[in-house]
Amino acid sequence: MCFVFQDLIFSLAILVLVLATPCSCTENNIKSAVFLSPKIELGPGSVSNKFYYDLDFPRGHIAIKSFDAEVVDEYGNSVPLYETYLHHWIVERYYNQKNVTQKVNDHNSSQHVVRNSGLCQGDVLGQYFGLGSETRGTSTYIQDPFGIEIGNPKEIPEGYEEKWLANIHAIDTRGVVDKMGCTECRCDLYNVTKDENGEPLSPDYKGGLHCCYDSVQCRLKEGFKGRKRSVYLRYTIRWVDWDSFVVPVKIYILDVTDTVQISHDSKGRNPIHHCQIEYQVEPCSTRHEDGNGCVIVNRTSLPFKSGGYVIYGVAHQHSGGIGSTLYGQDGRVICSSTPRYGNGTEAGNEEGYIVGMSTCYPKPGSIKIYDGETLTLVSNYSSNNNGGHTGVMGLFYILVAEQLPHQYFTNSFFSSFFLYINNLFY
Ligand SMILES: *[C@@H]1O[C@H](CO)[C@@H](O)[C@H](O)[C@H]1NC(C)=O
Ligand SMILES: *[C@@H]1O[C@H](CO)[C@@H](O)[C@H](O)[C@H]1NC(C)=O
Ligand SMILES: *[C@@H]1O[C@H](CO)[C@@H](O)[C@H](O)[C@H]1NC(C)=O
Ligand SMILES: *[C@@H]1O[C@H](CO)[C@@H](O)[C@H](O)[C@H]1NC(C)=O
Ligand SMILES: *[C@@H]1O[C@H](CO)[C@@H](O)[C@H](O)[C@H]1NC(C)=O
Ligand SMILES: *[C@@H]1O[C@H](CO)[C@@H](O)[C@H](O)[C@H]1NC(C)=O
Repeated sequence: MCFVFQDLIFSLAILVLVLATPCSCTENNIKSAVFLSPKIELGPGSVSNKFYYDLDFPRGHIAIKSFDAEVVDEYGNSVPLYETYLHHWIVERYYNQKNVTQKVNDHNSSQHVVRNSGLCQGDVLGQYFGLGSETRGTSTYIQDPFGIEIGNPKEIPEGYEEKWLANIHAIDTRGVVDKMGCTECRCDLYNVTKDENGEPLSPDYKGGLHCCYDSVQCRLKEGFKGRKRSVYLRYTIRWVDWDSFVVPVKIYILDVTDTVQISHDSKGRNPIHHCQIEYQVEPCSTRHEDGNGCVIVNRTSLPFKSGGYVIYGVAHQHSGGIGSTLYGQDGRVICSSTPRYGNGTEAGNEEGYIVGMSTCYPKPGSIKIYDGETLTLVSNYSSNNNGGHTGVMGLFYILVAEQLPHQYFTNSFFSSFFLYINNLFY
């Protein structure tokens, strides 16, 4: 009995220790690796929008702490946005049947994409990671002790393995007649009237992803000649090995174009999301002679099923964007994120492009989303009189922890502690 009692005292001492030091434990064990995507070949004015399967990625049961990236050339030099515009890159998780190897763009039933936690559904905006032109200047680090759990062998179905795929959309704007127009995927500049599948586009559709699909060509200046070149997405991943001190976060992406409908069935109220991903910013309706243009405000209200504590937040906007805010049902600000525009020529500070988005790192516990709360997403763009903007986005990416470290540790600690005591006595 004496032994047991000592063990108990010892365990209580550990318990006190664990509760008193809410973990800087992961800080020193951060691993990191730099990878290159497959080669992306681009000639002046051309577009590459491909899906790369079986991406290089850290393996094992780990927690991702950050995912940073940039576009580089054959020599590893940073490529500025006015040469290769990084429209977007997204990285998705999938389970792949063992023995089946995938090729570029070859999606079939041997793969099952593992979505993030919402809010869109199906295969829309299900990525784990992803950004656009703002990639170089946007922090993606997840504060301790939180992380994105991946590679848990218990979750991977029998006969499958976990893999990662990237969709990289890059537009080469060397020598084009209108760089901003090409990056906004204006259909007239691409001379596109049918979408990728050959379906005619509506005459109201002035620009967007349906006009800048893989292999199309943006209009070049008369007589412009430039060489073809290869670029890569170079990405740096930081992670820690999974252990009971890492607190998992869920990934949500909210879309300002989402017109959610509620359907009622035997299981209750179910939201059906319609996420269009992109939209048009109309030209100003009245003349703005001062040249300052007008502000176009878009908003949507979205029910959030199971809440938690916001650990990180960032918006995604295109050129013309001037800020985006996510509000709680009572009007409190959950996170506000604004773009930073470059004012130079060097990569990471290209004039006129969004080179970074501000991020939110609330003190864990300070920003809570309640179960069933209706959130409002607002996305602001500045417009002008000559055509507005086409193919813009208003997304908001948030990481939500369902429990805080002390709740999470207490739960996992007490359950193993009582199991331990049970084992001692019985
Ligand atoms: C999927 O694609 C792979 C690689 O091209 C091929 O080997 C496999 O048979 C395909 N599977 C199905 C179910 O079509
Ligand atoms: C993979 O291939 C091996 C050898 O060809 C075979 O024995 C095994 O059953 C295959 N596994 C799956 C999941 O198809
Ligand atoms: C645009 O496409 C049409 C047919 O789709 C073609 O006849 C025309 O030459 C193209 N214009 C340019 C500038 O490439
Ligand atoms: C954005 O707001 C404008 C102006 O209120 C409106 O005309 C447009 O339909 C909205 N777009 C979307 C995608 O909601
Ligand atoms: C968006 O514009 C509205 C109206 O001008 C303003 O009240 C709001 O603060 C703006 N929000 C952001 C994030 O810029
Ligand atoms: C660019 O912006 C930075 C920060 O806003 C400022 O410090 C710098 O002076 C600007 N440079 C030019 C050339 O305008």
